Amino acid sequence: MSNKDSLQSPKGTRDFYPNSMRVQRHIFDVWRRSCEAFGFQEFEGPTFEHLELFTKKSGDEIVSQLYNFEDKGGRQLALRPELTPTLARLVNQLGSSAKFPLRWFAIPRLFRYERAQRGRLREFYQLNMDIVGTESLWAEAELMAAIVHMLVSFGLKENDFSIRVSSRRMLAEVLTGLGLDDLQRNKVYGALDKKAKVAPEVFDNMLREAGLQESSQQELSRFFNCQNFSELKQLASSTFFGAAFESSVAELEDLFNKVSALNCKQYVSLDLSIVRGLAYYTGVVFEVYDLGENMRAIAGGGRYDKLLENLGGKPVSGVGFGMGDVVLQDLLESKNCSGERKPSADFFIADLVNNTEAVAALAQRLRQKGHQVLFSLDGGKLKKQLSFADESGAKKLLFMGSDRAG
Ligand code: HAM
Repeated sequence: MSNKDSLQSPKGTRDFYPNSMRVQRHIFDVWRRSCEAFGFQEFEGPTFEHLELFTKKSGDEIVSQLYNFEDKGGRQLALRPELTPTLARLVNQLGSSAKFPLRWFAIPRLFRYERAQRGRLREFYQLNMDIVGTESLWAEAELMAAIVHMLVSFGLKENDFSIRVSSRRMLAEVLTGLGLDDLQRNKVYGALDKKAKVAPEVFDNMLREAGLQESSQQELSRFFNCQNFSELKQLASSTFFGAAFESSVAELEDLFNKVSALNCKQYVSLDLSIVRGLAYYTGVVFEVYDLGENMRAIAGGGRYDKLLENLGGKPVSGVGFGMGDVVLQDLLESKNCSGERKPSADFFIADLVNNTEAVAALAQRLRQKGHQVLFSLDGGKLKKQLSFADESGAKKLLFMGSDRAG
């Protein structure tokens, strides 16, 4: 690395000047208010964890993107690429004192060593909302309603975003019917998640490697060609997919009824191409898309029935999602919804008599009464002070003059 490079911010990271911080704070404020509207409580974990927490259950893709290191005590650690394993660890540690269902949220800073590009960075923030300790589909429906609540609160409209939903359980039933085991199914999920990003031959090859021969691939496309619930039900009644597949279709349809009851149906649609790259999902999966020209994922999540148990806890089911700040901010900016605000103090005190001590004392008195106040630290010409006052966005100007009549 040249000396010049070390003076730049590392690839995939951002510098937050005060104006960017104000935008970020607006995003976090809306996120927090929406979480609280749905009764979620905030939590946090450490920014680095034992490497094994992620290598155990998150899946190959995220593991290949880890920033990991050995500390001075020889421990293998990783900067967190996601929060869900940490959440599982925290809930497991609560043991029987956990009062299910928990509604928890967090806004962690995450780290992924991936190719930095538009919408994808190596360091970003991600709102996480999770409901742990219930199998009720109302949990999925509440999360979707919370997503709608926050995106609409930012000022976005129905045609700006869409929540696309599918079911890993439904897909798992199809793949089990085609003779695939756990490991092979996970490989298929990984391949399907990458389908849009790789050439068709590469994709076919990935499916073959996962154990799906030509004839099975055709069966699988019959599933993916279904456009709606009636076609899915027809498929369920006509083939070897069986009763378990039928019940997973019914489960997903039930979720759509619940979403309707929460008045959010217009934002949610069935999309069987949603698979999700992470390995731990077992039920409903969903992604939120920016419907602008980029069609990128703002958020993604799903139900994980086994994660807590696989990390040493009781068999407790959870469901949640992560919403990154990068794609969201791009979308908000493109719609003029990023809430860019000026800094705003209540008072700026201009010093007409070069008496900084008196100005400072007045500022302090006003602050003690709860006002936001600033002044020029080194006095100077009035013109300079007024331009500084303007920059500060102060709502009122006070002038400190002399009390002597003159
Ligand atoms: P994920 O799909 O890996 O899921 O990430 C969710 C969202 O985080 C993405 O849709 C995207 O907006 C944002 N995101 C991911 N990677 C990056 C990146 N490199 N740069 C900027 N934004 C990014 C998870 O992380 C799951 N743990 C979410 C979850 C919570 N599932 C259940 N609970």
